[in-house]
Amino acid sequence: MTDPLPEPNPAHRRRPRYRGTHPRGFREKYKEHAPELYPEHTEHVRARGMTPAGQHVPILVEEVLAVLALQPGERGVDCTLGYGGHSRRFLERLAPGGQLLALDVDPLELPKTQARLRTLGFGEEALCVRRTNFAGLRAALAELDWSAGVDFVFADLGVSSMQIDDPARGFSFKCDAPLDMRMNPARGPSAAQWLERVETVELARALQDDADEPFAQRIAAGLVARRGRLRTTLELAAAIRSLLPAHVDEEQAERSTRRVFQAVRIEVNDEFGVLDTLLRALPECLRSGGRAALLSFHSGEDRRVKKAFEAGLRSGVYSACSPDLIRAAPEEQRANPRAAPAKLRWARRT
Ligand SMILES: C[S@@+](CC[C@H](N)C(=O)[O-])C[C@H]1O[C@@H](n2cnc3c(N)ncnc32)[C@H](O)[C@@H]1O
Repeated sequence: MTDPLPEPNPAHRRRPRYRGTHPRGFREKYKEHAPELYPEHTEHVRARGMTPAGQHVPILVEEVLAVLALQPGERGVDCTLGYGGHSRRFLERLAPGGQLLALDVDPLELPKTQARLRTLGFGEEALCVRRTNFAGLRAALAELDWSAGVDFVFADLGVSSMQIDDPARGFSFKCDAPLDMRMNPARGPSAAQWLERVETVELARALQDDADEPFAQRIAAGLVARRGRLRTTLELAAAIRSLLPAHVDEEQAERSTRRVFQAVRIEVNDEFGVLDTLLRALPECLRSGGRAALLSFHSGEDRRVKKAFEAGLRSGVYSACSPDLIRAAPEEQRANPRAAPAKLRWARRT
């Protein structure tokens, strides 16, 4: 019997060719994808207020650390590991002896982040990574025998820069790609499949409630009439533009397109549904004195967090919660425009 052919060694894979002198496409930016090899290049991109391709710049880190007040030896959860920026700082604060459970639904990015954190020296004893939806937080804690409650729970809601910037994931209308938008592409219908099935009333409700789209009704009716022809990001973007009234200028059209993409993404990933489940489970997941911090980027998310924390304060499950919204300072917003919409709230378990 002949030996099977050896697997090609990824270390020797050719880097993608690009036109011109500078890489422009997401996958061509090989230096940004390998910050450990090209740290100066990453710094250079960051200094221009941009997020390097394949990375995510963590938001409101110092503010999150301040409200969570982590102590060495504590145990807690990062519900949204992403690129691991927040988790890394938590792990530094929890040492020695602390433990972090980090969750994420994304099967493509999770292994990369886990490997990066392991390389930085965070072993199994300090960091446990699970590909799990945070709606299942209670079950994830039970699996580790942590059902008595943890010292802190953190969630940084929404999508990561790696997801939104990678054209292949279908979140953005800047490039053409299959219309996917799933944080876990192995689960549930893609955005294209969802648009195939959704009824006008439900779509109009989503565009109105999830994105405050002023032309929700006409866009919804028009998209439903175009069923079967909305398979890629650019097909959806072109359809949205064609459905807007003639007086709408380019800038307004771009805003409507952004809003429709946001609403479809929220629905495809059931972002409000899983947040509601997490907020209901939180009090039971925190030990007495435990802290929760939630970072949201959408008024619909923030309203839910505020309502849940205030209701918990009234009922006595929380002894305190953020009196005001915490936002990124102007310097952070300048350095990372993606920090501009961020809203941080916290609560402390009685
Ligand atoms: C904004 S990013 C988090 C960035 C991270 N804090 C960092 O410093 O890199 C959000 C991450 O949460 C994940 N996510 C979103 N909803 C989730 C859910 N319901 N359960 C688990 N992970 C989720 C996304 O896949 C994404 O990786």
